[in-house]
Amino acid sequence: MEDAVSVEESVNELLDLTQQLLDSIATADWETYERLCDATLSAFEPEARGHLIDGMEFHRFYFDLGAGASTKNTTICLPHVRLLGEDAAVVSYIRLVQCLDADGVPQTSRFEETRIWERQDGAWRHVHFHRSAND
Ligand code: GLY
Repeated sequence: MEDAVSVEESVNELLDLTQQLLDSIATADWETYERLCDATLSAFEPEARGHLIDGMEFHRFYFDLGAGASTKNTTICLPHVRLLGEDAAVVSYIRLVQCLDADGVPQTSRFEETRIWERQDGAWRHVHFHRSAND
């Protein structure tokens, strides 16, 4: 089992990678999103209307639309990281996304997310997530 220092390093790295992942979604940065994800990423998210999504193409559709006119700011609230041994982890949190609506009025969206990461050949890859919208 990992010692306390390496556990803390893994937790910090996973939170940093999760923030990078969410920022890549906010900026429609497909290159970063693809680099952080396993090609067989599985997902439950509201856009899939209750279906389990397998692979990256479903997600790419939204990146191809671009980031939109409004800048976005993504905040990870109350993160909880559970290491499952040295090579797998569960990261759960509330995701807040601030943006401007069509009238230029600031809005905040709120989501509950659980993301699973797997260490593959020494690098963490995102392998599964579940998002619930909770406005
Ligand atoms: N829809 C892409 C993601 O939340 O990872």
